[in-house]
Amino acid sequence: MTHSGAGADGADTNGAGVPEEAAFAQEVPRGEPILEVRQLVKYFPLTRGILFKKQVGAVKAVDGVSFDLRQGETLGIVGESGCGKSTLAKVLMNLEAPTSGSVKYKGEEISRLSGAALKAVRRNIQMVFQDPYTSLNPRMTVGDIIGEPFEIHPEVAPKGDRRKAVQDLLDVVGLNPEYINRYPHQFSGGQRQRIGIARGLALKPEIIICDEPVSALDVSVQAQVINLLEQLQGEFDLSYMFIAHDLSIVRHISDRVGVMYLGKMVEIGSDAEIYEHATHPYTQALLSAVPVPDPTGREGRERIVLSGDVPSPANPPSGCRFRTRCWKAQEKCARETPALTVREWLEGAAAHDSACHFAAEREIGQSAAERESGQGATERESGKQEKQQ
Ligand SMILES: Nc1ncnc2c1ncn2[C@@H]1O[C@H](COP(=O)(O)OP(=O)(O)OP(=O)(O)O)[C@@H](O)[C@H]1O
Ligand code: SF4
Ligand SMILES: [Mg+2]
Repeated sequence: MTHSGAGADGADTNGAGVPEEAAFAQEVPRGEPILEVRQLVKYFPLTRGILFKKQVGAVKAVDGVSFDLRQGETLGIVGESGCGKSTLAKVLMNLEAPTSGSVKYKGEEISRLSGAALKAVRRNIQMVFQDPYTSLNPRMTVGDIIGEPFEIHPEVAPKGDRRKAVQDLLDVVGLNPEYINRYPHQFSGGQRQRIGIARGLALKPEIIICDEPVSALDVSVQAQVINLLEQLQGEFDLSYMFIAHDLSIVRHISDRVGVMYLGKMVEIGSDAEIYEHATHPYTQALLSAVPVPDPTGREGRERIVLSGDVPSPANPPSGCRFRTRCWKAQEKCARETPALTVREWLEGAAAHDSACHFAAEREIGQSAAERESGQGATERESGKQEKQQ
C-alpha cells in the first residue's frame, strides 16, 4: 500500500483560484485548526443484480461528521467496530472520495486541489495502520519499505541521500540502523509497528492519522509504541488523529476525544470533559467498561451493559441512532436527530458538545435502592433539563 499519491511536480497553473503548493508552506499556530471537517458523509452503495446493477440502498458508514483537528494536538477517535472510524480516516487521507461534506486543510478545500498542491497535502497527511503484519510488504526490505515514499517525493530525500535518510528514521523510532536490509518477518510485532511509524514519518508530515496502531500488539508493547508516538509528536511538532476501539487506550495520549456511534460523532471534548464529565449515554456506557487501576476508584462504579446489537449502518434507527440501546430514550429521540452541540442547561466541564436531547452527567456511585429499581444509571441534575415535547 502506498501512502502517497502521484501528481505532477511544479506550480499549479490552472489559474482558476485553485490554491498552489505554496499555500501550504505556512505554519498553523499551535491550537488552531489544521484540518476542518464539516458534515462529512461517506455512503457505500448496496447494489443488486449482475448485469444491470441497481442500487438498493447504502451503507451509511460516515453520516454528517464535523470536527477540527488542532495543530499539535492528539485527537482520539473512539467507537465500536463498524462505527465508521477507518472510513473517516480513509476519506481524510483522500483514499476514499466523500459522498458529500467538506474537508479543509490549512483553510483550503482538499477536493478542489490538483497537481502539486494535492501532492503537497498528501505528503503532509500520513497514516499508520493497525496491523503491522499485513501493512508491510513481506518481499521488501525494511530499507525499501521506509524509503518507498521518497520515490514519489524525491524532493524530501534525493537518491544519493536515501540510505542515510532511512537509517536516520530507523534510529528515530528506536530500531538499529543496521537492520536496513532485513525483512519484516525478522521483526517482532512492536518492531514492525515502529517500521510502519518510520515510514509514516519519512515525508516529514504535519498530520499522522493512526488507525488502531496498537490494537494488534501485546499490552506490554502497546505502551512502548504509544510512548514513542508521544515522543515523536514533541520532536516533530505533529498533530495526531488516534483511532481506537476503547477509551482506555486513548486516555493516555489524547488531548481531546471524539466518540463515534453508527457513523455519527456523538460527543467530543477535552480529555477531562470526556473522562470526568461525559454527558452522552453511549460515552458513559463506554466509560463504565474502562478498567480502573486504583481499587478505591472501583467502589460505587456501576458497569452499564448495553442491551442489543449495534443496528446495521444500512438501516440506522430514526432520530438518535443510539436510541435502540439507550436507557434514557424517549419518544422525542425517535423523532428528532439530536445535534452535536452544547446544551444550555449544562455548566462547567459538562458544557461541551454532546449529541443527546437529554445530555447530563452521570452520577457515579448509585445507591443500592436505585440499582434495584432497575435504573441503568442515574443522572446528576445539571440545571434545567430539556423536557420531552
Ligand atoms: N468498501 C466498503 N464497501 C462497503 N461497505 C464498507 C466498505 N468499507 C467499510 N464498509 C462498511 O462501513 C461501515 C464502517 O466501517 P469501518 O471500517 O469504517 O468501521 P470501523 O469503525 O473502522 O470498524 P473497526 O473498528 O472494526 O475497524 C461498516 O459497516 C463496514 O462494513
Ligand atoms: S437522544 Fe435520547 S436516545 Fe439518544 S442518547 Fe440521548 S436520551 Fe438516549
Ligand atoms: Mg477500522
